[in-house]
Amino acid sequence: MQSEATLQDAPDAPVLDEDPFSDANIADPYPFFRRMRELGPAVYIKPHGYYAVGRHVEAGIVASDYERFSVAGGVGMSDIRKPGAWRARSPISEVDPPDHTRVRAALQKILSPLVVKTWRDRFAARAEEIADRAVAKGTVDGVADITEAFVLSVFPEVLGIAVPPERIKLTGELNFNQLGPNNARLAAALERATPIMEWYAQVLQREHMLPGGFAEKIYQAEDAGELEPGSAPLHVRSFFRAGVDTTIAGIGSTLMYLSQHPDQFALAKADPARLKGAFEEALRLEAPAQVMFRVTTGDVVLGGVKLKAETKVGYHMGAANRDPRQWTDPDRFDLTRQTTGVHKSFGQGAHLCIGQMISRSEAETILSALLRRIDRLEPAGTPRWRPVNTLRTLDTLPLRLVA
Ligand code: HEM
Repeated sequence: MQSEATLQDAPDAPVLDEDPFSDANIADPYPFFRRMRELGPAVYIKPHGYYAVGRHVEAGIVASDYERFSVAGGVGMSDIRKPGAWRARSPISEVDPPDHTRVRAALQKILSPLVVKTWRDRFAARAEEIADRAVAKGTVDGVADITEAFVLSVFPEVLGIAVPPERIKLTGELNFNQLGPNNARLAAALERATPIMEWYAQVLQREHMLPGGFAEKIYQAEDAGELEPGSAPLHVRSFFRAGVDTTIAGIGSTLMYLSQHPDQFALAKADPARLKGAFEEALRLEAPAQVMFRVTTGDVVLGGVKLKAETKVGYHMGAANRDPRQWTDPDRFDLTRQTTGVHKSFGQGAHLCIGQMISRSEAETILSALLRRIDRLEPAGTPRWRPVNTLRTLDTLPLRLVA
């Protein structure tokens, strides 16, 4: 608990009159993150009226201290409690403890490590097929031919909903734009997704769940009274939203860094167990979910500066993961670095990613299937990032796979 005196004495957070979501900052966020981190532990982003947190320690506090930084206003920039909110609340990620604790326990039962382990053979079989095809082609787009081809075929299947891949891409783009500001990027994503919105609401309903998937088990948990009545479609939506694009993004960044660092590729080739480290290090450097928001429950002091009550606070994982206060040589890709559980890419605290072991299992199976078949992985052109408000994901990744 902080004392009144601390609140009174602390200076206001410094003001930064810059848009984190400008075209330039979305294309290359790291110079902006440096400015933001150096200005203070929290800075007030004037164009959008929220506090941005880019240092490692304070990002962890905002993510996990739910008494001061609540998810009740939603994990996006806009406050979903206010009129005109364009999103329905997620019944897991936008609920604070103690209610969250009950929901999380019910879902954790469905997604136990034991259950996730049983999917491993399916992931591996699909990974072998996709790796065979990619290696036969030689020069590929790492996004279309590897990461999307793999994740879009395995994740919806274990979730248990049948969705055409191009529609998944539209809803993902909409979701991660919606978590940011109401800008031109969001307007364009909304326009592209409008024709499929009715279908999207339908496909989350019980009758569309495939037998044996974990989405079906979510409906069963609702029937058993473990989840709130009527919440199952929203839970399915949360898993669908959170599980696809993030994993595609993380595996894509791993392939990009391995192709650009032959010495690191050689380390992984010599000891494939190091692929785990490569995935975590790529997640650190290019946090797929770049920022998540909370709302202050009262006036609070964070890192010695004052934040006003009832104001949104964004914890920028992309910035915290390169904070030199935490990491030596933070911009360097080093797969031997101990990052698991330290980087913020899976969040921290009660809302720590519930699907992290699924994404790790997907990453390990596809990366190791590729590694076994090739001696070298080389860039075959310039990678291009996809401009999305809060998602750091590659649009194209030209690669040469040398067997
Ligand atoms: C590399 C891949 C992934 C990344 C980077 C990622 C990132 C995150 C982050 C940062 C959070 C915390 C959000 C917050 O603090 O508000 C989170 C929560 C969550 N993730 Fe993931 N995620 C990934 C994969 C997955 C997968 C595969 C699933 C599907 C099972 C999933 C489902 C969820 C759910 C349901 C939550 C909400 C948990 C809660 O509120 O208790 N995620 N994820």
